[in-house]
Amino acid sequence: MNLKPHYTHEDPQILHVGTCPDRSYYIPFADEKEAENGLSSRVVSLNGAWSFQYFPSCQDILDLEDGLAFDEEEMGQIPVPSCWQNQGYGRHQYTNVRYPIPCDPPFVPEENPCGLYVRHIDVADPAAFRWYLNFEGVDSCFYLWVNGEFAGYSQVSHSTSEFDISSLLTAGDNTLAVLVLQWCDGTYLEDQDKLRMSGIFRDVYLLARPENHVRDFFVKEDFSQDFSHGTITVELELAGECAVSALLQAPNGDTVGTASSTGEPLVFELDDPILWNAEHPAQYTLTLSTEDEVIPQKVGLRKIEVRDGVVFLNGVAIKFRGVNRHDSDPVTGYTISREQAAKDLCLMKRHNINAVRTSHYPNAPWFLQLCSEYGLYAIAEADIESHGMAEKLGYHVEENYPDAADDPQFKKAILDRVQRSVIRDKNNAAVVIWSLGNESGWGENFENAGRWVKGYDPSRLLHYEGFLAYHKDRTPDFSMLDLYSRMYASTQAVDSYFNGGELDENLHGRRMPFIQCEYIHAMGNGPGDAEDYQQRIMQYPGFCGGFVWEWCDHAVYGGTTPDNRPIYRYGGDFGEFPHDGNFCMDGLVYPDRTPHTGLLEYKNVIRPIRAQRLEGSTFRLHNYLDFTNAQDCVALSYEVMQDGEVLFGGNLEMPSIAPHQEADITLPELPEGGIATVTFFYTAKKASPFYPAGHALGFDELILSEEPFFLDAPVEEGALQVEAGPRQVVFTGEDFRYVFDNRTGLFSQMVYKNRELLSRPMEWNTYRAPTDNDRSVDFSWKQAGYHRPTVRVYSVEQEGGTLTCHVGICALYIGRFLDVKAVWTVSPDGRVDVSLHGERDTRFPWMPRFGVRLFLPREFGEAEYFAYGPYESYVDKHRASRLGVYAQSVESMHEDYLKPQENSSHCGCRYVTLSDGAFALSAAAEQPFSFNVSPYTQEELAGKAHSYELEPCGCTVLCVDYKMSGVGSNSCGPSLLPQYRLEEGQFDFAFSLLME
Ligand code: GAL
Ligand code: MG
Repeated sequence: MNLKPHYTHEDPQILHVGTCPDRSYYIPFADEKEAENGLSSRVVSLNGAWSFQYFPSCQDILDLEDGLAFDEEEMGQIPVPSCWQNQGYGRHQYTNVRYPIPCDPPFVPEENPCGLYVRHIDVADPAAFRWYLNFEGVDSCFYLWVNGEFAGYSQVSHSTSEFDISSLLTAGDNTLAVLVLQWCDGTYLEDQDKLRMSGIFRDVYLLARPENHVRDFFVKEDFSQDFSHGTITVELELAGECAVSALLQAPNGDTVGTASSTGEPLVFELDDPILWNAEHPAQYTLTLSTEDEVIPQKVGLRKIEVRDGVVFLNGVAIKFRGVNRHDSDPVTGYTISREQAAKDLCLMKRHNINAVRTSHYPNAPWFLQLCSEYGLYAIAEADIESHGMAEKLGYHVEENYPDAADDPQFKKAILDRVQRSVIRDKNNAAVVIWSLGNESGWGENFENAGRWVKGYDPSRLLHYEGFLAYHKDRTPDFSMLDLYSRMYASTQAVDSYFNGGELDENLHGRRMPFIQCEYIHAMGNGPGDAEDYQQRIMQYPGFCGGFVWEWCDHAVYGGTTPDNRPIYRYGGDFGEFPHDGNFCMDGLVYPDRTPHTGLLEYKNVIRPIRAQRLEGSTFRLHNYLDFTNAQDCVALSYEVMQDGEVLFGGNLEMPSIAPHQEADITLPELPEGGIATVTFFYTAKKASPFYPAGHALGFDELILSEEPFFLDAPVEEGALQVEAGPRQVVFTGEDFRYVFDNRTGLFSQMVYKNRELLSRPMEWNTYRAPTDNDRSVDFSWKQAGYHRPTVRVYSVEQEGGTLTCHVGICALYIGRFLDVKAVWTVSPDGRVDVSLHGERDTRFPWMPRFGVRLFLPREFGEAEYFAYGPYESYVDKHRASRLGVYAQSVESMHEDYLKPQENSSHCGCRYVTLSDGAFALSAAAEQPFSFNVSPYTQEELAGKAHSYELEPCGCTVLCVDYKMSGVGSNSCGPSLLPQYRLEEGQFDFAFSLLME
């Protein structure tokens, strides 16, 4: 006899005990009035304080034979819903791919932490109704007892478990006991990249329902070819026998149909139906009434389909401007209220986003209702990821990746998870694509689940990104998939797909619409390639768009430092093993939902309108909206600038531009010469639920002319004294004294009008504080010694105020990676001009930057610059910024990434001036350059793990860079595109330092 117990939570053949069959999500009401108000007397909320006890091991308490023994007096309290790690129990862990447990399916550690939840409910007359106990989300699984009797078991963290507990209730006080385990066999299928948390994290409630009722229903839609006629069919599944009467109301509330049934489908015929889409999310209201219950359901009418490799909604080719979104909050963890979710969705709408992928599990059941109401397309994803299988040998083995996908022991579970997602969410207009899950490879289990989806709901497209990772000893069947889904495909891979590139042979040449279910990895400073992808989304009809990875940074709020800086914790901060550091802080918004500059970039990249100059003053506007005439929703204005000054501008009449169409407009005569730009601003013509009228939707800044920036010739006359020696050269003028160091080829001291301009000697700069996107290439930068350059000056020739030096930059034990010829000229008025000719040894990797670093006294705290601003800008990330003159304090320019890194550089710079109120130092050039000013050194940024640890260096650090390489999205995406790298073998750069 085996003395070890057989646990349900380690048996993937037993997924649920005592649960009701799955059904669509709805809330029943007592009558129509209640349904209208949205407050149901048939719902008994069990949210709130529960008695709670945490056990480090479930063996301490779980006894399926003799029942659960506990003493409520001894227990503490916990709010439901919540994650227990956020309430001080257990500890957080962040792991991406690697399982947090040994990979030994279906077993999980015997030391399996668990939480016992106890709560009382008073039911006066149990016989009056049938009582359904609903748990909308429990991580990872739970056992349930009602009045001491075992009532069931369930798993699949992000799905609803419903129990009919009618027969277990007694009149008066009843006791519910729920034992939640941190891990179960389902853990193998819930290896999503996230902070790992546990508990009853979504709503719990009882539904009081009449004996006979509508148990489930499925709203199906069909349209005539030209959408002039629609048929709504509501399939019913009844519990017992009942008569159902149905009312259909148009979006404006008018009744447009009634029907009745005792079980057969309800049918409504509609002429000129009002269709739903993300731009106009109009919904009908269906009300199902039985003798004693009313169920309201919103119905959005739309049809998604693929024709000739292109995705169409309601007969229109559409594009997804999407994001991946996790349920994640730094304080509440997985527990997300409607208000929190609504805030996210609202922010998305404000930033031109029209689609969301519920990565990588179903969200709260009302989440998709919000999407339908707000107008966001959804990829609704099943709660599946078994990525960790690939790591089970201790390193990544691609062949092991699809192990769960083919493992017969998970066949039932994979189907169950897909069914729970589809059945629950099927009546939401927002859902246009079902996803079988994430990163689990492909195998029989997915083919089986995919076939089921296509049989149950052929009206949506079916998506699964992991399809190409299959065991090579079997022939996969991809016939049920509708989309060619990739994550982080490079722009080259996209081009190849649309230019006849090779396909997996098992696709048999079927070129499905291309979708990036994840792209432009938004970790830290980035993404830098949004525009490059958008160009292709616009170019290829079959490229239906992409979903940024991801919406928010995940972190755990840990209060504030004594000086009031917020503390956010990430992987490794909880003492856990294994962990994946800050890889989860990769969102478009900070944990508190403050937008990253990356979100601003994305917003403008996906602006609804784009302008292009035809010739002279004529411009062409393209309407990228799919369903709305530009004139109906976008107001237009413009502004013409020359050399940083606004010349003229004003409001313009937005022409009538049908979706996907173009129109030309003509402006007054435009300036020629200098640096001249015209900017078209697109703003919301009308208020929407998400923003007021006038809300900025985006802009186009077009360069009219770009001549070298004009710098006055240096002053030649005046007294200049030069004392030249082998160690240094001292330049003295009426107002200044500069010391040039022959060992560095740079100035070590600059005093102007008795003001010390340099707190430390100047430095050559060949490195930047690595961004998250530099995490791979930084290895080779460090290998080359770019972060620890040593300088050798081979020669300094002096002639009057001019020094010609030959400089080599190497690093300890490393050869000369850069050779610089520098010509410095000091003018009698104190101006310094330098022209640099660089030659790079191209056997070394491309460089993050090259330039000169100045350490100014901290009092030089105010900056004015002519560059791309006001947001940080890089060669590949400047679409949120405009070329103009900006004044900002140095402190405010710092972009406070939670893991410090290179930030707040500005590209396209013509000049930057730093001032302390009395004195000013400017760096200016005729050709655009990049600069950075910061109270922090790059060493400080590189060396600190959290922003709250940063210490200012006491100086204002000014970096004047010939070039700053782009940022890209290589933290997970492809390596930085060559055109954005400092990769050239030779370059020239001239700039001037001007004092005032
Ligand atoms: C993808 C994965 C996401 C996330 C991302 C990296 O491979 O699907 O869940 O891990 O990489 O941030
Ligand atoms: Mg993963």
